[in-house]
Amino acid sequence: MFMDVVRKRKSVREYADTPIPDDVLREILEAARLAPSAKNLQEWKFIVVRDERTKRALIEVAKGQRFVGEAAAVIAGVATYTSYTMTNGIPACHVDLAIAMEHIALAAAEKGIGTCWIGAFYQDKARKLLGVPDDCLVVALMTLGYPKAPLVAEEKRRKSMEEILCRECYC
Ligand SMILES: Cc1cc2nc3c(=O)[nH]c(=O)nc-3n(C[C@H](O)[C@H](O)[C@H](O)COP(=O)(O)O)c2cc1C
Repeated sequence: MFMDVVRKRKSVREYADTPIPDDVLREILEAARLAPSAKNLQEWKFIVVRDERTKRALIEVAKGQRFVGEAAAVIAGVATYTSYTMTNGIPACHVDLAIAMEHIALAAAEKGIGTCWIGAFYQDKARKLLGVPDDCLVVALMTLGYPKAPLVAEEKRRKSMEEILCRECYC
């Protein structure tokens, strides 16, 4: 059930030393490939990092977050065209990559694989390490791996529905 997966997904920062099989990773990436994007532009690349040395280097890129080096894989979500701003004034690439990366997180959770969004990283260092061209943007990194403690649906620290829900107009 979709809502079970939503409830199970949480930020995982402790990973078991178990690799993710290729076919499982491929299916998770398929969820990103199928994600919607503004004008269906699909201006994105997903860099899968599994090399130990590159993962270790990513720790520094991510301001010393050690678990980045301990995950089985790190996926960098890269916007390959950053100049399209939607009529609403929002740059499309930020939205598009966020959707695709969350598809990855949910697809992973469904398979019992933990993820963590990483927004705290240096753009210039990430680009340099991963060979990303200057006109592209690394929108997010995401760690993936089997969690030390299995994923289970648990209560989340979230605002109540009353606090966030407005009916008909902003309140
Ligand atoms: C865009 C974004 C960037 C984030 N960056 C980081 C990060 O750099 N490091 C980290 O440990 N967690 C990061 N997180 C995880 C959030 O702290 C986490 O999603 C939030 O506290 C809710 O917890 P949950 O994911 O367990 O439900 C990020 C989450 C998002 C959505």
